[in-house]
Amino acid sequence: MGKDVIIACDFSSKEATLKFLEKFTEEKPFLKIGMELFYAEGPSIVKEIKARGHKIFLDLKLHDIPNTVKKAMAVLSGLDVDMCNLHAAGTRAMMEAALEGLTRPDGTRPLLIAVTQLTSTSQERMTDELLINEPIEEVVLKYAANAKAAGLDGVVCSPLEASGVHERCGKEFVTVTPGVRFADGDIGDQVRVTTPAKAKEIGSDYIVVGRPITAAEDPVDAYRRCVAEFVG
Ligand code: C5P
Repeated sequence: MGKDVIIACDFSSKEATLKFLEKFTEEKPFLKIGMELFYAEGPSIVKEIKARGHKIFLDLKLHDIPNTVKKAMAVLSGLDVDMCNLHAAGTRAMMEAALEGLTRPDGTRPLLIAVTQLTSTSQERMTDELLINEPIEEVVLKYAANAKAAGLDGVVCSPLEASGVHERCGKEFVTVTPGVRFADGDIGDQVRVTTPAKAKEIGSDYIVVGRPITAAEDPVDAYRRCVAEFVG
């Protein structure tokens, strides 16, 4: 699996996004488009960024009944993105339906990745509110195994969980990991963070980096630093 740095384009408008992308005159970074930008601008922002030559991870985290997710995924596959995702909590039936919907008539499809437990969910909340009594690390691994059994390509997880996921689901099963900060950087609201170099060592396949690049004085330089540390 080719390692890459994905920049989280957490902007609220097309203008802000394109202004940011104009800084990249030499590289074409892999970009993540999340709910904020997608809901603000709609599918046209995906088409516009794709036309500029970027790979796109469309981070919409679908979670609904299998038939609805299947149809929604069929629409997303028409946008020609490279990666999209859903919640493993929707169960295997939903994940299998999603895969079916995502697969184009010619058999090609974007990578499909599952969110296991959000990193904002603590053990305490999961136990008290969701009534899941297993340790959260086990829940993450079980959801990853469910995603693999459904035929998905990988999971979004904390970099700290990446090696466990690879042990349980195999080296080829992709780990996409946010929560990355430079050793000398601000951690902001993230709690369990690692550096790009450490994420590489633990075995992440893709790191998702937002503010350390988007809020940097020189975003291109910060991106290059991430690539140098993570891809080498
Ligand atoms: O700015 P920062 O590097 O913290 O951005 C991380 C990105 O990864 C954000 O778009 C955030 O929504 C996303 N993400 C995350 N933790 C997860 C799943 C997604 O930080 N568990």
